[in-house]
Amino acid sequence: MESTTLIIGASGQIGIELTMALRKKRGNDRVIASDIRPTTDSDLLQGPYEILDVLDRASLEAIIEKHNVSEVYLLAALLSATAEKNPDFAWKLNMDGLFNVLELAKAKKISKVFWPSSIAVFGPSTPRHNTPQHTVMEPTTVYGISKLAGERWCAYYHERYGVDVRSIRYPGLIGFRSEPGGGTTDYAVDIFHKAIESGSYSCFLKEDTELPMMMMEDAIRATISIMEAPSLSIKERGGYNIAGCSFTPSELASIIRRSIPSFTISYAPDFRQSIADSWPASIDDHAALNDWGWQSEYDTDKLCATMLSEIGKKKAATVETHA
Ligand code: SER
Repeated sequence: MESTTLIIGASGQIGIELTMALRKKRGNDRVIASDIRPTTDSDLLQGPYEILDVLDRASLEAIIEKHNVSEVYLLAALLSATAEKNPDFAWKLNMDGLFNVLELAKAKKISKVFWPSSIAVFGPSTPRHNTPQHTVMEPTTVYGISKLAGERWCAYYHERYGVDVRSIRYPGLIGFRSEPGGGTTDYAVDIFHKAIESGSYSCFLKEDTELPMMMMEDAIRATISIMEAPSLSIKERGGYNIAGCSFTPSELASIIRRSIPSFTISYAPDFRQSIADSWPASIDDHAALNDWGWQSEYDTDKLCATMLSEIGKKKAATVETHA
């Protein structure tokens, strides 16, 4: 039986797109999608789909054996805003899920692991602009604490047990295929939907809050490319900084206005403002460029143009189907 790839958390914002991209490359049957809930998503159902709670190590191991899984992408996690509402569970899911996968890699049941880190590993004492790969890291959110601890555990399992685990510190991810869930950067997806649906948006961050962001297509390319890089070129076994573009809500609104001149935005900052304020504004990603050739392809203008045109097409198709 040929070896397969398992995606845990396949119904999430990254999971759906990563499943589709890997199935395109490797074939539908060689990529096993899994999530805690059943799905009706026709793309996820193009190949095997398993119900899996990553906290249940025995079931995880059974699925790995059943499908001869050699590589795992662990995407199940609570994001920053949801995690602040439920710190105990966020810590449990984000850490124990990782341990379950790392332990199976240590026992040689799987040979390669991808685990997502985040710009949330940084905190208010980190240099905000062009944040370096190695710098002060004092995260103030439970999500950030779990990601920083997770990075250190990944590096530990690599160093101590030879586990081949690779990780990226994702910025805010912006895509049109799937909905984000529970992140502080989610406004930058929602704004496009609202601009097209109703021509106005109420933003939960202040107008001048600059954050690092990335088009989903870039993020998927980065993920697959770090996993395909030769093991020896992966020098950072915690997580790699990767940069896409940086913008503020008001900059995004001005760019949207070029296509939708009547678009209006208002600001009603909530608890997510202090999370955003603790994060970098822009990222230095030279280590990723030097070690495995990372380069982003989307600047802010291209990201906005893609989001507006793709979401516009989707809405038009829905209207046609219902007409
Ligand atoms: N997009 C994530 C969040 O906002 C950051 O990793 O939680």
